[in-house]
Amino acid sequence: MQGNDVALDGVSVTYSNGFTAVHPTDLTIRPGEFFSILGPSGCGKTTILRAVSGFVQPSAGRILIGGDDQAGKAPNARPTALIFQNLALFPLMSVRENVAFGLEARRMSKRARLAKAEELLDLVALADQGSKKPGELSGGQRQRVAIARALAVEPSVLLLDEPLSALDLKLRQHMRTELRGIQKKTGVTFIYITHDQSEALTMSDRIAVMNAGRIEQVGTGDEVYSQPLTAFAATFVGEVNALPGTITSREGGLVRMDTALGQMIARNPTDMAEGSKAMLFVRPEHLRIDTGNLVNRIEATLERRDLEGAFLTLHLRATATGQPLAAHMVNTGAPLPQGTTSVGFLPEAALVLPEGPVAKTGGEHAA
Ligand SMILES: Nc1ncnc2c1ncn2[C@@H]1O[C@H](COP(=O)(O)OP(=O)(O)O)[C@@H](O)[C@H]1O
Ligand SMILES: [Mg+2]
Repeated sequence: MQGNDVALDGVSVTYSNGFTAVHPTDLTIRPGEFFSILGPSGCGKTTILRAVSGFVQPSAGRILIGGDDQAGKAPNARPTALIFQNLALFPLMSVRENVAFGLEARRMSKRARLAKAEELLDLVALADQGSKKPGELSGGQRQRVAIARALAVEPSVLLLDEPLSALDLKLRQHMRTELRGIQKKTGVTFIYITHDQSEALTMSDRIAVMNAGRIEQVGTGDEVYSQPLTAFAATFVGEVNALPGTITSREGGLVRMDTALGQMIARNPTDMAEGSKAMLFVRPEHLRIDTGNLVNRIEATLERRDLEGAFLTLHLRATATGQPLAAHMVNTGAPLPQGTTSVGFLPEAALVLPEGPVAKTGGEHAA
């Protein structure tokens, strides 16, 4: 098996009721990449996957797989296979027969089909489970059967639509490692759709952050988390404190900003002009209660402390505006501030981005 690249060239999808679920999108997914599309429910993720697999026709643009234009090709004529949340395994067939099922349309003897199924079951670490019925397996094992079945037709691109969302948390976390391992072993290109940011961050080579029918950013997990390009990406991926304000001056890569909590200095990668409406984003792990000589300081009251073992989450409230703030810190046992205190952050640890829509709730925090 081998992965192909997938290129979306100006692809948009407008459904027959006139609703545009995907606005013109350019995207290149590399051969053998584990690529995730991350975004809230309804943002158009499944629509993109349907377009790639051929169940939906793009209203404009082209989809190329391995350089080959897929226009007019039926789903079963494409080098793709699709796995849904609902795995749709056949309950009365054995696991081995389920995996071999996809091969029936091929000119292969039954013996060859079952041999191939055995090979795939070995790949997903179910070599000794072939004779069981799906109902006799655990949720994670059934998931792996579905993957083996999808891989049986030797797709060069495997499309996975929130395949773990029906599983409980422990299993979901375990399956992340499994899926990543299977992807590495086969070298098949995986396009993985999820609304769960920790799934995307843990498994992917690269992530596309999607909102309201548009891809707002493509990058590695580190890039998307540490260098978000939009207010939406900053608020959907990971937790963040957001302060709206206006840019008052520029100093190199830094800007000075007026906010309701005072003047702040932070990084501004997008070269915004003085007078621009902006938002400052600072992650909880960059907010410090030991403010020393930090230039950015906010007066606040500690309202609650959540113990998470090695870490603490401090829930604070800014004195000036009542805005809630979150800070993460290592649990060293050091005494925490009582009453009014100040929190602060380094200019380099905060990011100023153009004002824009923010995520209503962050991407699900499954960890
Ligand atoms: N067949 C359809 N006709 C009209 N609108 C649709 C259809 N399928 C999906 N939509 C709408 O398109 C948007 C994107 O849907 P979808 O791609 O399923 O989002 P996601 O997978 O990100 O949750 C949603 O607003 C949804 O209601
Ligand atoms: Mg969906």
